[in-house]
Amino acid sequence: MFDLSETHELLRKTCRDFANKQLKPVAAELDQKHQYPESQIKALGKMGLMGVFMPDSHGGADLDALAYAIAMEEISRGCASCGVVMSVNNSLFCDPIYKYGSEFLHQNFLKPYASGQKLGCFALSEPGNGSDAAAAKTTATKTSDGYLLNGTKAWITNGYEANAAIVFATTDASAGHRGISAFVVPMPTKGLSLGKKEDKLGIRASSTCNLIFEDCLIPHGNLLGDEGAGFKIAMSTLDGGRIGIAGQALGIAQAALEDSLAYAKERQSFGKPIIKLQLIQNKIADMALRIESARLLTWKAAHLKDKGVRFTKEAAMAKLAASETATFAAHQAMQIFGGNGYVTEYPVERYYRDARITEIYEGTSEIQRLVIAANA
Ligand code: CAA
Repeated sequence: MFDLSETHELLRKTCRDFANKQLKPVAAELDQKHQYPESQIKALGKMGLMGVFMPDSHGGADLDALAYAIAMEEISRGCASCGVVMSVNNSLFCDPIYKYGSEFLHQNFLKPYASGQKLGCFALSEPGNGSDAAAAKTTATKTSDGYLLNGTKAWITNGYEANAAIVFATTDASAGHRGISAFVVPMPTKGLSLGKKEDKLGIRASSTCNLIFEDCLIPHGNLLGDEGAGFKIAMSTLDGGRIGIAGQALGIAQAALEDSLAYAKERQSFGKPIIKLQLIQNKIADMALRIESARLLTWKAAHLKDKGVRFTKEAAMAKLAASETATFAAHQAMQIFGGNGYVTEYPVERYYRDARITEIYEGTSEIQRLVIAANA
């Protein structure tokens, strides 16, 4: 558990080199322009990183969840927006299609997505509900031609660029969460329109928008899993997604730590480099301690996923610890950088903005605590 295999070490180095050369130099510009990192995501696809734990036969890299957590950290250390694009495609799109999809869905919605030629998204939240996922109001009415989708899905990462979405909608309103079903919806498609691109605080190189369904007809064959199984598909999928977001948060935190260390060794104050000041050392130590702790939780959750046992609590712990560590580390980095941390000349203000969402999406920190308590 504590020694990474040669494969994992090599992957880590490959991702780190890629992030240093191809992501770090462009991350600020992509963020400022709110520009989708198209060529960078294509490159991630060629490296196998858009389907890290998908089998080779389905277009993936045939690695495991631990490899995914490592790759997510290293890529997000270079560009957190690229991290979330990658995470949604890997864990929220490919993973449930592989696990619950029919042969037809595998044939049509796996290989091009896991190999990075196409991009997926995941539509669970709605304007009127986020944390209470079972309260979804979007409906799917069964007709002889297929399912007719009506309603609005909100906060959809990758919404503008995606070629397909996994959409959760109610097929039986009287059955509560047991009446929710999951569908694979090709994009664009008749009856589906996109809302405005959200103007966000952070991860601004990734798109977020509403998906609006108005009598959108989806073939019967695009039902994912059984009718009524959608809520459990969403919950188990989010368990895996939380490992990805934990990795993203770790990458932001690690970048904040590395930049703080480099800056503190250069910056002079009171006649010496500020790294010699104990209050600065205190901050560095706390950042390093929290990052290492959160990384161990993340790797443990990934290890359990790879073993095929339930990892709901561990994924929630990993996501909670890593996202709170990211906001903590970015905050401390800004204190170390002072005014230089507050301006766009240095990446610290971006880490500060990017970190914040990791405590919100794929379940807020408050929801992670609920999940941990329910499974303690
Ligand atoms: N795996 C499998 N099944 C699960 C499960 C899991 N992890 N968690 C719950 N279930 C099952 C339960 O066993 C139960 O099954 P039965 O029907 O057999 O009883 C059923 O699901 C209902 O469980 P709960 O009663 O616990 O459900 P709840 O309504 O109380 O909700 C919750 C629990 C934890 C609050 C859940 O609603 C939740 O996780 N909310 C947060 C939603 C979230 O993370 N949204 C993120 C949006 S996606 C996003 O951000 C993507 C993006 O673009 C980046």
